[in-house]
Amino acid sequence: MHPLLASDLHDLPALLATARDLSLDYLASLPERPVAVRAAPGPLPALPEVGAGGEAALQAFWHQYADQLGAGSGPRFLGFITGGSTPAALAADWLVSAIDQNLSSDGYSVAPDIERAALHLLRQLLGLPEAFAGVFVTGATQSNLVGLAVGRQWAAARAGHNVAQQGLYGLPPLPLLSGAAHSSIYKAAAILGLGRAQVRAVGQLPGREAVDPQALETALRALNSQPAVVVASAGTVNSGDFDDLRALAALKEKYPFWLHVDAAFGGLAAAVPALAPRLAGWEGADSITVDAHKWLNVPYDAAMLFTRHPALQADVFKNSAAYLGALGERPDFLHLAPENSRRFRALPVYLSLLAYGRAGFADIVARNCAQAAALGALLAASPAFRLLAPVRLNVVCFTLAGPAAPTAADVARLLAYVRDSGETFLTPTQFAGVPGLRAAFSNWRTETADVPRVAKALLDAAARR
Ligand SMILES: Cc1ncc(COP(=O)(O)O)c(C=O)c1O
Repeated sequence: MHPLLASDLHDLPALLATARDLSLDYLASLPERPVAVRAAPGPLPALPEVGAGGEAALQAFWHQYADQLGAGSGPRFLGFITGGSTPAALAADWLVSAIDQNLSSDGYSVAPDIERAALHLLRQLLGLPEAFAGVFVTGATQSNLVGLAVGRQWAAARAGHNVAQQGLYGLPPLPLLSGAAHSSIYKAAAILGLGRAQVRAVGQLPGREAVDPQALETALRALNSQPAVVVASAGTVNSGDFDDLRALAALKEKYPFWLHVDAAFGGLAAAVPALAPRLAGWEGADSITVDAHKWLNVPYDAAMLFTRHPALQADVFKNSAAYLGALGERPDFLHLAPENSRRFRALPVYLSLLAYGRAGFADIVARNCAQAAALGALLAASPAFRLLAPVRLNVVCFTLAGPAAPTAADVARLLAYVRDSGETFLTPTQFAGVPGLRAAFSNWRTETADVPRVAKALLDAAARR
């Protein structure tokens, strides 16, 4: 063994203690650390011939860069849809690295069974029937990709064609119909050879991002029994809007389509009885995306894909090789996901669900929604801002008020002031063609008192521009 590795092995307890201390310092700083920072990483390092050892490398990294790590997992990071890490999830994630299991296949560890147990717990939290098989992937983008890949397999199979085996050659285009597809759907269409141009916008309900079921039916009828994929939204990224999933699922009686529900964060609404009805009908879907590193508040990166068609999924993702073993009745996870070697990313979800139960997650979701509603009310009451959409869930979508229409440059300038204040971080958007901002609440640490702080930072920035 190289002497530096040998001495690090000897000093492992001290090295891990350093990592623990730095982690605790960082976590303690989260509420007051600048929420976002403009990074200045400096020159790229030269590879040393002789390394510094674990402790020195760790300390040097921390010394040089700790101030440039914003509080992305803190209570006032409201950009994108960003969860934090609950204590149980964080502890579990540490263990994941320590035990470093490869969850490709069964037969040498209990870890794949824990992934199955995590999926079982999730189905209970989400209210999904056991008929939905699940698999962990790295994020909702990857999950959408898997769902659409299985949908593509299904559509071609109707014409007696096995896409996974024969490719897309000679097949007609596969339309992807959606009211407000997340950008990752376009990415998935590009990767899968379906083409971004096949993602077709269907009419939305007035003033909403939810699809108009009648417009969808008209679009499906016009396809003349040609198979399609319908991408439904359960929580749009701008306004947290939900399609009427029951109405969409009912259309499957009349038209041949694969129903994929992107519930990346909105799926967690199932944990709150008052919100759960928004997901009514999703049990009629063919595939469902739910993210874990958003509202489930586990560390990056983790999401789940649920489908009622695991055999078709294995047709797409099987990875046959003598050394990997046969598919068998219950295919190993490596035959169900893009990855072959897989991190034990199910463990943080498993332990969080056991640690906090349904009530714990219902509390996070309900509190975040109340916080979004409170911020929305403060902004709507101010002369500086106006809401672009009602606050339906956990996202506040708003823009600058005033006689002149706000431009994307106005929004960018405002967001730069807000970021540089260190108080909060938001991301830009467009709603119905109007440039605006979005504040997304999905962190378990966010408290009621954070809301007026965010509002003040926004009002101060608006006054400066
Ligand atoms: C509705 C929806 N789908 C998909 C994604 C992509 O998620 P990820 O960044 O985990 O790939 C997001 C991210 O915000 C989302 O809100």
